Amino acid sequence: RAPEGSRTMYHIISIRDFEREDLDHLLDRAEVFETGRYPPGLLKDRLVALLFFEPSTRTRMSFAAALARLGGQSISVDSVEASSIVKGETLADTIRVVSGYVDAIVLRHPKEGAARLAAEFSSVPVINAGDGAGQHPSQTLLDLYTIRKSMPLDGIDAGLLGDLRYGRTAHSLALALSLYGVTLHTIAPTGLEMPVNIAVELRERGVEVVEHASVEEAIRELDVLYVTRIQRERFPDTASYYNVASSYRITTQLLEGVRDHLMILHPLPRAGEIDPAVDRTPYARYFEQARNGVPVRMALLHEVMR
Ligand code: CP
Repeated sequence: RAPEGSRTMYHIISIRDFEREDLDHLLDRAEVFETGRYPPGLLKDRLVALLFFEPSTRTRMSFAAALARLGGQSISVDSVEASSIVKGETLADTIRVVSGYVDAIVLRHPKEGAARLAAEFSSVPVINAGDGAGQHPSQTLLDLYTIRKSMPLDGIDAGLLGDLRYGRTAHSLALALSLYGVTLHTIAPTGLEMPVNIAVELRERGVEVVEHASVEEAIRELDVLYVTRIQRERFPDTASYYNVASSYRITTQLLEGVRDHLMILHPLPRAGEIDPAVDRTPYARYFEQARNGVPVRMALLHEVMR
């Protein structure tokens, strides 16, 4: 819980905690950090714990890079096996202890709700770097940032393709886009549709949600296509994963007749759902999107520790 009278952005746990003005503020700040118009050493002497209890390349490294660029330092735990959690220590105790060492904690955890729980026990700000099939708010900020660099967010037609059931990036992004009056086009293999509670929440927030049977049916109506991988690690067994694996793939042929300004985004890593030939088209924006993780996370780190 944020201390009495503290800023609203003390912890960064869920996109549900953000108003549109909070998102716009962070995106504006990211722009400042990307253009380099900021004093050196803004987070000098600040120490951040990167607690990653699930694998990560982009989130972990871009948080570390963002902090280093602001003059701060990080310490890390990179797996459950490398921590005292294997000895039976609870997440709550781990967070109580680690928050005594650092100025902020960045946490990735396989259980939905872990970041919210960590915030209850932490004496320093907690940033959710992905909690199971829950949320991934810093990813969403860099997704919004990438779109906003090319087009205004208001009123766009955004397609969400893939594993919308377990894909935390899709959950966070859909909720964030609801603040910008968008139309959401969802395309998911059977059984991997958006959870009912999120679909209901989106409609209650006034979002038009259009469900499509295939990406072919939707792609020509889109300004943004957000592709996600099937989250194999969240499936109860291998057989149910193979029932839906390889059920969609973006190819150059599929891109014939799309809007000129279509942006194809993907939080990465990809696992076969975008043909590498698409990388050479002007629609492929996912590597630029990953790069934007650094200025966006600079803005977040600075916001919670300034
Ligand atoms: N997009 C994303 O969260 O990637 P990593 O799992 O590599 O951090």
